[in-house]
Amino acid sequence: MRFDILTIFPSSFDSYFSESIIKRAQKNKLIKICTHDIRKFSKDKHKKVDDIPFGGGAGMVMTPQPLYDAIKHVKKLNKGAVIFLSPSGEIFTQIKAERLAKKYEKTKNKGLILICGRYEGIDRRIIEKFADEEISIGKYVVTGGELPAMILVDAISRLLPGVIGKESSHINDSFSKALKRKKEYPVYTRPEVFKGMKVPKVLLSGNHKEIGKWKIQHLHN
Ligand SMILES: C[S@@+](CC[C@H](N)C(=O)[O-])C[C@H]1O[C@@H](n2cnc3c(N)ncnc32)[C@H](O)[C@@H]1O
Repeated sequence: MRFDILTIFPSSFDSYFSESIIKRAQKNKLIKICTHDIRKFSKDKHKKVDDIPFGGGAGMVMTPQPLYDAIKHVKKLNKGAVIFLSPSGEIFTQIKAERLAKKYEKTKNKGLILICGRYEGIDRRIIEKFADEEISIGKYVVTGGELPAMILVDAISRLLPGVIGKESSHINDSFSKALKRKKEYPVYTRPEVFKGMKVPKVLLSGNHKEIGKWKIQHLHN
């Protein structure tokens, strides 16, 4: 699966994507992540990408031209869906991550084109022209679309076959089908007693039927 990310801060992705599972997934060619600097597509002599909003109001709006050219360019590289990260979008969920992972799990040059807004957001005409979807990471506002894009890449990538070592470790995650879309039961590890706090007895019993029952009882909404 391929991810192309359009941003005015491409280097903000370097650190997160060069660690751990996402690093390994790229190395093993299970995913490809490319960042593109929107500013490079600006035809303004100062490489401006923002301007004052029509109708007044605080803050700046991302201008259409650099985004138009950047998206046209990236659509030639990635034949997948264009997603605008936006607080006004559909709320991102595990079900959504599963659907997107399934759709693109076997594709090399197809996946998601993620557009990161900044300032007060993106000129609406660009969203109307190109958006397959608008996605929000929750009912709050962050400074830019970079963190939301990282969240989508991470949540989707870890569901792709082979990305997580033991596949069962995502099959039984919170919100998975196996856990009835509920939140996971509490988890414990060694030692059995830590500063006087004990692990629930049933988990040490070796009785898999009882352990299974306990786990289901401790799922929550
Ligand atoms: C400061 S926000 C703009 C907020 C916008 N003025 C509003 O009130 O909805 C700048 C950019 O951050 C990204 N962003 C902020 N919050 C987000 C969220 N909850 N989900 C997805 N993207 C978000 C979007 O790309 C947005 O264009």
